[in-house]
Amino acid sequence: MDIPKLRKLLALDPNDSLSRYALGRKLWEQANGDPAHTTAMLAESIGHLRFATAVDPSHLATYHVLSRALLDAGLPDEARPVIKQGLARTAHVTEGMGKDLGPLLADLLASIGQHPAVRPDPATVRIEQVLPEAVIPLRHKVLRPGMDRSAAIFPGDDAPSAIHIAALSPTNQVLCCATMHDEPYTEPNSPPVPSWRLRGMATEPAWQATGLGHRVLLLAEQLTQQSRRTSLLWCNARLPALAFYKANGWQTRGQQYLIPTAGPHFTMIKPLT
Ligand SMILES: CC(C)(COP(=O)(O)OP(=O)(O)OC[C@H]1O[C@@H](n2cnc3c(N)ncnc32)[C@H](O)[C@@H]1OP(=O)(O)O)[C@@H](O)C(=O)NCCC(=O)NCCS
Repeated sequence: MDIPKLRKLLALDPNDSLSRYALGRKLWEQANGDPAHTTAMLAESIGHLRFATAVDPSHLATYHVLSRALLDAGLPDEARPVIKQGLARTAHVTEGMGKDLGPLLADLLASIGQHPAVRPDPATVRIEQVLPEAVIPLRHKVLRPGMDRSAAIFPGDDAPSAIHIAALSPTNQVLCCATMHDEPYTEPNSPPVPSWRLRGMATEPAWQATGLGHRVLLLAEQLTQQSRRTSLLWCNARLPALAFYKANGWQTRGQQYLIPTAGPHFTMIKPLT
């Protein structure tokens, strides 16, 4: 099937992970024309493939194509964790279910080197309140790849009450970010509870799992309570981030649901004492 047919197929069900995979794969395969066109095709391909892995993390071929697309787009630091996730999953499947992708992924990882780019010690990273503009590029890169930059700007970002937090390297590169909006929490058949909503939580891929997310959440919580004390915080959390939030004292509420641009989610709250 060609790209226009695959687009039509996806339009029938934008949440279908196999349609996303098929279109993402085709865009990646054909992204070898003039540089401007290639960049746009790779960006779109990456967006579809990331969506496909979020909806169906068990489809191993997606990890392979997504990591190739990320490498072609010149994003080795983003490809590395994708390859590692794919490798971890190939270890648990049987022959014919994608196990043959294991050696391919291992070669890919070796080709970009096992070691992340040299980075400063996390102890030199400062966690600070910043202006809204500072957090948009990292949100865009990690949470809305392949989409227009405007998709990374949320209503209320410019509100005087909004609190934007960043983890900053010694050269002021934003390595992790989060935003707190003064927004009530609501549950069906209950009155709204005054609260703060966490949005745009993202860590630069090479810095994930080094504790920055935890530190950013701590300051976010502290600053909201200094600004206006509430009994809880809330957020719409992506499925892959659930363990991270739980480890930081958050709890899921209600059933899982799908956000078409960002995959499966749970609403989560953090009760405050
Ligand atoms: C979810 C996300 C924001 C977490 O940020 P982070 O900076 O990686 O968070 P931390 O480093 O504090 O913790 C992440 C994990 O690393 C572990 N970790 C923390 N410090 C570590 C260290 N020094 N060494 C090894 N592991 C460590 C934590 O235990 C945690 O594990 P868990 O997820 O099982 O709880 C980040 O992974 C991310 O940007 N993901 C993609 C975007 C996304 O899903 N955002 C959330 C939208 S709702």
